[in-house]
Amino acid sequence: MPRPLTRRTVLGSAAGAGLALAIPPSSAAEPTVVRPPAAKAVSDWPLSDHRDEAALLAVLRSGKWGRTAGGASRVKDFEIAFASRMKARHCVATSSGTTALLTALGALNIGPGDEVIMPPYTFVATFNAITANFALPVFADTDAASFQIDPAKLAAAITPATKLLLPVHIAGSPADLDALSALATSRKITLLEDACQAPLAEWRGQPVGTVGLGGCFSFQASKNLTSGEGGAILTNDETFAHLCYDFHTPGGVKKSASSGRGANYRLTEFQAAVLLAQMTRLEAQATTRDANAAYLSELLRKIPGITPAALAPGVTRSAWHLYMFCYESAKFAGLPRAKFLAALTKAGVAASSGYTSLNTSAHVKALAANPHYQRLYGPAAMARWVDRNQCPVNDRLVEEAVWFGQAKLLGRRADMERMASAIADIQKRAGELARS
Ligand SMILES: Cc1ncc(COP(=O)(O)O)c(C=O)c1O
Repeated sequence: MPRPLTRRTVLGSAAGAGLALAIPPSSAAEPTVVRPPAAKAVSDWPLSDHRDEAALLAVLRSGKWGRTAGGASRVKDFEIAFASRMKARHCVATSSGTTALLTALGALNIGPGDEVIMPPYTFVATFNAITANFALPVFADTDAASFQIDPAKLAAAITPATKLLLPVHIAGSPADLDALSALATSRKITLLEDACQAPLAEWRGQPVGTVGLGGCFSFQASKNLTSGEGGAILTNDETFAHLCYDFHTPGGVKKSASSGRGANYRLTEFQAAVLLAQMTRLEAQATTRDANAAYLSELLRKIPGITPAALAPGVTRSAWHLYMFCYESAKFAGLPRAKFLAALTKAGVAASSGYTSLNTSAHVKALAANPHYQRLYGPAAMARWVDRNQCPVNDRLVEEAVWFGQAKLLGRRADMERMASAIADIQKRAGELARS
């Protein structure tokens, strides 16, 4: 398949592999430095201080550790605060991002025979939430420039069995929600956003999670807003909110018509207390990430062979849960990505190769042989399903991607310069490193 002409290929051919990166000394205003000197962090994430400690102690001493029906509750306070910050009418807090997805899919009564379209460039939990309902995950290939689901590939994957479109805002950057919601409307299929990595991200000024019917968020330990584990569903649809609430908690007065299914996926008061404390820092941290990500992109675009992931045109804010870029080894004297990453780590700039190929993984392939799927869909359909899982663009992307974690974007401008300089320096030494 011909490679599209990108800024990477244009710059690369014009500049050659040995271009030195001229980084001017930091001149623009420093973004707010969010990491307080007294932050109690044994690693660079998560961060906490006296606010988190006091909040946890207060729950401990209150004797009220779990959500109860009615009355005051930190879980409820968090739901109100998160919904308000994300400009959503309703929030249902859950015990994780996975259980937020399970709740949403349960509320939609997704089940055997239903197809759910998802991207291959995501965490395995997106897939697991579908298979936990014995529905069929269908992969729609990735857009190479943005790393997000390609709406044209998604449109081509729709069949009469498609019950749900489940795009992911990967890295915290919104997928193309104009194209996806237009498809959902024209094909009359529900759109649910896997926004697990994307709190505070915006599409045309609207926070993600409510462009579709709803959105699912994760507050797992690595996430920008965290309580170790935790999750939430946002929606503007009251009926869906009631279905989600009733699905995620057993017993009590039900607000929706039952489908006979349900679970206990509640968030605890401890988690909610930590989330409320973390929210006091969230905005300043997001502003710092915004400024640093923009600066880092400006620096990295000057290095041939390094192409930062593009933001879709409607993205007015990324959550920058991950900073992703493509590494083209040909512009680094053929230095393999693994050696590039090792050299970066040695230079004190730890980076990761990101996701491996989900659609061709042993976990996904095992589904084809799963006895329940064999019985529900039949051997021929499961064999066809394996054939349908081809995602050639994603296959190439997983070989070229490099990630920095979000905590790296909480540093100073000088830290961004150090990261870019480390890459430029590796490029200068690439021939020698490739031979070693
Ligand atoms: C895209 C995506 N979906 C779903 C999840 C699941 O969230 P959790 O780990 O909180 O269950 C995650 C979390 O890592 C994620 O990144």
